[in-house]
Amino acid sequence: MQKSKIDVILGIQWGDEGKGKIVDVLAPRYDIIARFQGGPNAGHTIKFGNTTHVLHTIPSGIFHEGKVNVIGNGVLIDARIFCQETAALRQAGIEACKRMKISDKAHLILPTHRLLDAALEARKGAKKIGSTVKGIGPAYTDKTARCGLRMGDIFHPGFEKKYNALKEEHLLQLKQYGFDIDAAAIDGMPWREYEDKWMQGIEELRGFEVISTEFYLDRAMREGKKILAEGAQGSLLDVDFGSYPFVTSSSTTASGVCVGLGVPPSAIGRVYGIFKAYCTRVGSGPFPTELNNETGEELRKKGHEFGATTGRARRTGWLDLPALRYTLMINGVTDLIMMKADVMDGFESVQVAESYRLDGKQVDGYPDTEAAERVEPVYVQMPGWRKPISSARTYDSLPQEFKSYVEYIVRNTGLDIKMISVGPDREETIVNA
Ligand code: GDP
Ligand code: IMO
Ligand code: MG
Repeated sequence: MQKSKIDVILGIQWGDEGKGKIVDVLAPRYDIIARFQGGPNAGHTIKFGNTTHVLHTIPSGIFHEGKVNVIGNGVLIDARIFCQETAALRQAGIEACKRMKISDKAHLILPTHRLLDAALEARKGAKKIGSTVKGIGPAYTDKTARCGLRMGDIFHPGFEKKYNALKEEHLLQLKQYGFDIDAAAIDGMPWREYEDKWMQGIEELRGFEVISTEFYLDRAMREGKKILAEGAQGSLLDVDFGSYPFVTSSSTTASGVCVGLGVPPSAIGRVYGIFKAYCTRVGSGPFPTELNNETGEELRKKGHEFGATTGRARRTGWLDLPALRYTLMINGVTDLIMMKADVMDGFESVQVAESYRLDGKQVDGYPDTEAAERVEPVYVQMPGWRKPISSARTYDSLPQEFKSYVEYIVRNTGLDIKMISVGPDREETIVNA
């Protein structure tokens, strides 16, 4: 039997494109759903029936019986947050440990990684990244500095000793920063209380199947099983290709799948690029098409653009084609999925940035961070669609103005839009648009 390929779902803007919803919608077509990077900085929302779930570390295929959800080696796990997720799933009647496998090489976020994240952000002052402060930066730093703790360590007798040694190292650093350790809190509780709950989480994690998932995935591909890789964050937050330093600390692009799951480049199949019909960004950094006006406010209100992880208001703006072309190139996107166009229902007109100008000249390629702060987008304006689109289930039934918007994007990217999401619910989706 020929080895099957891994399809990939990637956010191709600044995150929060709606990856969770689409992974949940596509999950019935796959056998295995695998996260390959990021950690609890992600917030993936899934809505069906009368319920809304937000997942941070657990893959978005968890609601489907008979599917295996894998947390790959590239993911970071905070034992406390992870167990809050499993508790919420238990309330919904799902025993996560029966549907999951976790890589023995996935790294742990310690409570002191979270304190370090907070201390480092505070030291940056006005130049802060706007991190979710979930410990992502410090935990990936320890991974590459070769002093992190991995899931496999929790089964060894020396785990507590290793934990304490790394914690002491972190406390030393925090002291050097003048951080008030005794007064420190995490998620509204004294940090030592958080540490106790984290340790309880480690105990719960010991009940999960922790294996070398690279072998499991290789076997699954040989058996012809279908695998979907679920990205977190977005390509413009990638540690290399995003607006550095206003990025996250992992490879959020298609190549992150290989290193985050232990699969070869030849294993990658379709690459689905998910984008909103407009743009949002949460945290600091350049955002060329940002709208600091009433239209921006309307997008925020109608799109409920408040973070699924931190509750922070998301910045909003028009669709940005130069940014999209850049991320399509880096990821080798094969198909597009468009989200949240319903948020623009009723707009008299809509705009799209076709190119950027800088110092009076057209910009080629994609600008670096400093230039991206100064570029002026060149917009094209199109008529809006007056009729609401949320109840549409076929492409043909959509208003003509909206179809023109879609066709304009297809023309300018050279890619088909395979799905159009017209609302947050599973059902509010036009498949094979
Ligand atoms: P993710 O991080 O990419 O999974 O996205 P988030 O869950 O952080 O943010 C997407 C938000 O938009 C969530 O609140 C979803 O319920 C919601 N959403 C997803 N698709 C649509 C859509 O097509 N229309 C509307 N109005 N909301 C959507
Ligand atoms: P999902 O998977 C949107 C942003 C933060 C900050 C920067 C660095 O839900 O799309 P970090 O906590 O990683 O140190 O933050 O990245 N960020 C996200 N923005 N969606 C996310 O995840 C994000 N994860 C991190 O706001 O600007
Ligand atoms: Mg999100």
